[in-house]
Amino acid sequence: MQVLAIYSESGGVTKTTTAVSLAVIAARGGRKVTLLDLDPRAATTKWARVVPEEDHLHVGAILAYDDCEGYAEELGIVVPAWSENIRVIPAARSMSNREAEYADGAEYRLKTSLVGLESDLVVIDCPNRQGGPLIKGALTAADSIVYASRLSEDGVDGVEGARQTVSQFKKNLARIGATHTLDELGVIAGDIDDRVVGTPAVERIAFDDLKQTGLLLTPMVPKRTIVQQARIAGEWYGDYPSGHKVLDAYTELSKKVIR
Ligand SMILES: Nc1ncnc2c1ncn2[C@@H]1O[C@H](COP(=O)(O)OP(=O)(O)O)[C@@H](O)[C@H]1O
Ligand SMILES: [Mg+2]
Repeated sequence: MQVLAIYSESGGVTKTTTAVSLAVIAARGGRKVTLLDLDPRAATTKWARVVPEEDHLHVGAILAYDDCEGYAEELGIVVPAWSENIRVIPAARSMSNREAEYADGAEYRLKTSLVGLESDLVVIDCPNRQGGPLIKGALTAADSIVYASRLSEDGVDGVEGARQTVSQFKKNLARIGATHTLDELGVIAGDIDDRVVGTPAVERIAFDDLKQTGLLLTPMVPKRTIVQQARIAGEWYGDYPSGHKVLDAYTELSKKVIR
């Protein structure tokens, strides 16, 4: 089982779009996928139309208990509009309470909850935080990480900050001799305007900065309004011809980041 976290310290940089896209593509390709919404703003949850009706039926339940083995298997909800192979574990605003959770071992809960999960792939849609309990939980559970970015200053800052958090996390693991591996698989750049003539200076600068990390993956994902429209309607943009360019890009990228 691969556990892949999608991360950036910035908001609005295509984390959720990337997490959902990689998860749905893998599910439609025949893999059993669990998509875990770790962001209290719950964008993936709303897109999937799995907003929990009861307060214990979301990721917050996992984050509250040390003995949460098997919780992920119980909390996932199938999203037929996307694929019968995908289950989403919803987030809720109240989860932000857990961000004040500094109990010993709280960072192991997410990983513990995955024990016994019948999935080939877990994708975690991370909140835009500089570390903290939610991110520590995600990095402890994950074996691989993809950064999401736009071609903007915010996008680049978000990747740089996230990489510092990951690097510190890995140093701490190395200090205690832990064998846990967390591979940085790359940066996915999304929502790129491929229809304007000539690249604006800010985008060129951001592109150069991302390129310098040595992690920028190709292709970059083009901007199409259907992505937003489908999300508002709870649908999969890949089901619309106008979304095919976006789908093609994420499909190519998924070959590089999904085992
Ligand atoms: N390829 C794309 N084409 C058009 N809109 C996009 C694309 N990718 C992302 N967006 C839009 O950009 C906004 C931010 O993306 P989102 O994935 O929610 O970012 P984050 O999770 O980092 O906050 C959303 O409104 C989303 O619909
Ligand atoms: Mg998001």
